[in-house]
Amino acid sequence: MDGRAEDLVARRRRLLGRGYQLLYDEPLELVRGDGVYLFDRDGRGYLDAYNNVPVVGHCQPDVVAAIQRQVATLNTNTRYLAEPILDYAERLLATHAAELDRVLFTCSGSEAVDLALRVARQATGATGVIVTTNAYHGVTMATAAISPSLGPGAPAGPGLRTVAAPAPLGDDDGTAFAGRVERAIEVLRDDGHELAAMVVDTALVSDGIVMEPASFLGPVVATIRAAGGLFVADEVQAGFGRSGTDLWAYARHGIVPDLVTLGKPMGNGMPIAALVARVELTDGFGDAVRYFNTCAGNSVSIAAAAAVLEMIERDRLLANATSMGDRVRAGLREIAAEHPELTRVRGAGLYVAADLCDPETGAVRGDLTKLVVERLRARGVLISAVGPQRETLKIRPPLPIAAGDVDHLLEQVAATMATLTG
Ligand SMILES: Cc1ncc(COP(=O)(O)O)c(C=O)c1O
Repeated sequence: MDGRAEDLVARRRRLLGRGYQLLYDEPLELVRGDGVYLFDRDGRGYLDAYNNVPVVGHCQPDVVAAIQRQVATLNTNTRYLAEPILDYAERLLATHAAELDRVLFTCSGSEAVDLALRVARQATGATGVIVTTNAYHGVTMATAAISPSLGPGAPAGPGLRTVAAPAPLGDDDGTAFAGRVERAIEVLRDDGHELAAMVVDTALVSDGIVMEPASFLGPVVATIRAAGGLFVADEVQAGFGRSGTDLWAYARHGIVPDLVTLGKPMGNGMPIAALVARVELTDGFGDAVRYFNTCAGNSVSIAAAAAVLEMIERDRLLANATSMGDRVRAGLREIAAEHPELTRVRGAGLYVAADLCDPETGAVRGDLTKLVVERLRARGVLISAVGPQRETLKIRPPLPIAAGDVDHLLEQVAATMATLTG
């Protein structure tokens, strides 16, 4: 770290406290973004193969123009009549299963999941919640309490049970997963909690990125409903086209959730998120308690979100996510053939994952994963790590990434693997 970086790190600690984390041993000070590239103070460009929030690319000109136009015209809230929020709601709901016909806007993914919990508890009159063992669902009191990946500092609420997610490349069609959910429901009942909801990140990111086979949510949803609970698809990570075949990763599983939470990429970086649900759930909730969330659904955020949906459709970004994601995976498999430490290449669309393991024992090697992430950063390529032991490479570039940039990413991964083992 140079002197300036050391000063900034010290200042952050002094002003923001110790909860905030930085990516990389040598943290980046970024000053500009353009498409799939980020630039530091010295003008050095980094291929951004990590950030899923700028889903249509950093500083995408049409999104920027939409925000600029709206912020210079009017920025107000949902207590006034306005057409753009309704146009956007119509467009967004049309991308979901027909049964999901209401949308409530929030400012963050955490708020959307928090609201989903409130709606589910109100609708079912129950208190039990099930999540996966290493789930992450947010920062509010209620969502941190259903986020075991935060560790003991964010203790679970009394009505929470966790179930192991399917293995990253397991062959569970959902039967075994549903069996674990069934047992969790029984334990909740023994503890005096009927089931309100199961909340699942539809890419199971913090559990190690598990997206295949795309059937495994079906039996789980059936099990949840049979117990009177609601199924919440948390699309904050996987939504808005990342999985390639559909805007929503839940659709790959052929299921219709009761509630869907959206966030991160929704406004390409503007703070907008949402809860999508069936009418009887939102109206039952809305009859019981008024809903006003001051900045949620404000005019500027709606303008950004509308431009994002427009870009995804206009630039056929689902097709690009599928073909470029497949290109990354094919390239990683070729590298893995040379370097057996690299294994379990997986994912869907432009959510790409692979693990670092000891080839002899098969034991995961989070230390090697960290080395790869740090060395790629030194080579000007940004990715990160995830998973219970941080053993998984997490690769999720903005959706417009081009073949040349994918090839550059793969060349750098190959060169990095050579420094690791060669
Ligand atoms: C699956 C999932 N749900 C919810 C959240 C919370 O979203 P936010 O950080 O916008 O509050 C996140 C954030 O990482 C997430 O990954």
